[in-house]
Amino acid sequence: MSKKNILTGIKPTGTPHIGNYLGAIKPALKDMHNSDNNYKLFVADYHAHTTVKDAKLFQEYVYEIAATWLACGLDPDKVTFYAQVDVPELFELTWLLSCHTPKGDLNRAHAYKALVQENIDKGNKDPDHGVNMGLFTYPLLMAADILLFDTNLVPVGKDQIQHVEIARSIASRINALYKTEVLVEPESLVVDEVAVVPGLDGRKMSKSYDNTIPLFCSEKRLKKLVNRITSDSSAADAPKDPDSSLVFKYYQLFASKDESKAFREELMKGISWGVAKAQLFEKINDEIKGPREIYNNLMENKEQIDKLLQAGAIKARAVAVENMKRIRKQLLGY
Ligand code: ADP
Ligand code: TRP
Repeated sequence: MSKKNILTGIKPTGTPHIGNYLGAIKPALKDMHNSDNNYKLFVADYHAHTTVKDAKLFQEYVYEIAATWLACGLDPDKVTFYAQVDVPELFELTWLLSCHTPKGDLNRAHAYKALVQENIDKGNKDPDHGVNMGLFTYPLLMAADILLFDTNLVPVGKDQIQHVEIARSIASRINALYKTEVLVEPESLVVDEVAVVPGLDGRKMSKSYDNTIPLFCSEKRLKKLVNRITSDSSAADAPKDPDSSLVFKYYQLFASKDESKAFREELMKGISWGVAKAQLFEKINDEIKGPREIYNNLMENKEQIDKLLQAGAIKARAVAVENMKRIRKQLLGY
């Protein structure tokens, strides 16, 4: 079987939390490192500019996301790891793709449609209020991200499937028009959320809800956040119901089956929430402390992150320049 080109992007829009770690980073790394395929992972910094409009904050997010993946074990020798900003060919391709995209396809993109609907619901006179062209053409830059590298498979969450479909339909339209395979038609590889990690308030953990446990917060902060998890007011030695407890849910996410079973039994026998939370803290911290040290180290030596991203960009551009030459020749004749 020939090797597949697999590519995905991560948008730097906030501090990564344990939901991102368990639901996305950990499973993706396992997959990448166990695979013989050509993996590319990039920081979708230009996509983040549709919403993040503060350069200092922007830089912070980019370094945080890059350092997080590296600290969690991303091996830059196995995965081409780069930032969008270092691949200018993306913009040439975006333009060419835009000339083959009916505007209606972008009108129908979920993210844009949701914003329009919000304006209508709020009684705004302009349905496009607050929509910048970056948001509107977001799927085109994403299509360029994918198509520039002859990508076969794009691992994405359910919310991004439509964007991959848009890329696929642009590729197929161009191929049909030029009667040759100018662009590889990509497919999405839908990654089911391994488990939805609940936030401190019981809803889904998300930066938008302000209910997160940041993945690499200090040990002290982690302890504080764990202690803040809501628990009932039963007596210290009263039996606790593991299945209705957030403490147990978090514990399970980090522990082996046997460890979870033992913890369940302890709770049912009756230990205080204080003791249970101390055990939970240890469990999370055991897994995180090694990567946290690497993360802090990288964040204090950002030039190391720059260097790794630059090395990745050299590899990515070698492909991008060649492919762009080929596509330009096929579409424009020069
Ligand atoms: P957020 O909701 O905090 O903005 P993102 O939308 O940036 O998170 O998600 C980035 C990745 O992390 C996605 O692949 C998403 O499926 C995963 N993810 C986010 N929150 C959770 C969660 N609570 N549980 C499991 N996976 C999550
Ligand atoms: N839009 C994706 C997200 O919000 C990030 C992204 C940008 C991406 N370009 C991509 C993902 C290309 C896969 C392939 O999560």
